[in-house]
Amino acid sequence: MLTKIKETATFIKGRVGEMPRIAIILGTGLGELVHEIDNKEEIPYESIPNFPLSTVEGHSGKLIFGELGGKKVIAMQGRFHYYEGYTMQEVTFPIRVFQSLGIQYLFVSNAAGGMNGSFDIGDIMLIDDHINTFPEHPLRGKNYKELGVRFPDMSNAYDKDLRLLAMQIAKENNIKLQHGVYVGTQGPTFETPAEYNWFRIIGGDAVGMSTVPEVIVANHAKMKVLAFSIITDLGVIGKIVEVTHEDVQEAAKVAQPKMAFIMQEVIRNIK
Ligand code: HPA
Repeated sequence: MLTKIKETATFIKGRVGEMPRIAIILGTGLGELVHEIDNKEEIPYESIPNFPLSTVEGHSGKLIFGELGGKKVIAMQGRFHYYEGYTMQEVTFPIRVFQSLGIQYLFVSNAAGGMNGSFDIGDIMLIDDHINTFPEHPLRGKNYKELGVRFPDMSNAYDKDLRLLAMQIAKENNIKLQHGVYVGTQGPTFETPAEYNWFRIIGGDAVGMSTVPEVIVANHAKMKVLAFSIITDLGVIGKIVEVTHEDVQEAAKVAQPKMAFIMQEVIRNIK
């Protein structure tokens, strides 16, 4: 694994000039943030050694280098989901490559179902914390000391200072920003009403099929993480209706400019 990570990092270093400190993962329907990135250089996943290929509609699959909020960034357009059949090592491989490239900040976005009764479709939720219900842990197996400690702390998995900054930016710009706990689940089914209710009871505000594996590995790698969910459907008892992937993409598209704005301004304010 260490050799593969190095090999991929070396390939990327050879293609890119100054290396960023900030990486961004763009989730379902949120790929348009890339239009805000200046002086772009793109590398399709299929040309990157050891990179898995993305398979889901709505995820196009490339690494984008450029400038956002006045800083150099790498963005992943398209991520690897566990439900696609990848192992957890494959899902989180890009984060290991980012670690090897010296990335210190990880920004993540996703689409999620809202379980908190005060949420509406189109709301943006700042992720305060998560609950991991995936059946496999990305750090299971041999621990490589070079990558991190055996038993990583998760008490500040979503960095408090970055969250405060995001909240301040949202407030100053009159953007409604919810916050809460993200439940990560394997999918690919959306939840039954009983499952939404269960995730609510255990402390979740939103549920989705991504983010948690990447955030765990980013914490192992000592990166500071900031993550947002766009609430694309409601898993609130009494408000549950049929949901499709297209509904999710559509709702995400409407909310994404506001989320993109907050992300960009947080990046601008990083010292
Ligand atoms: N459940 C799980 N994943 C999701 C949902 C949901 O309701 N909406 C968007 N991604």
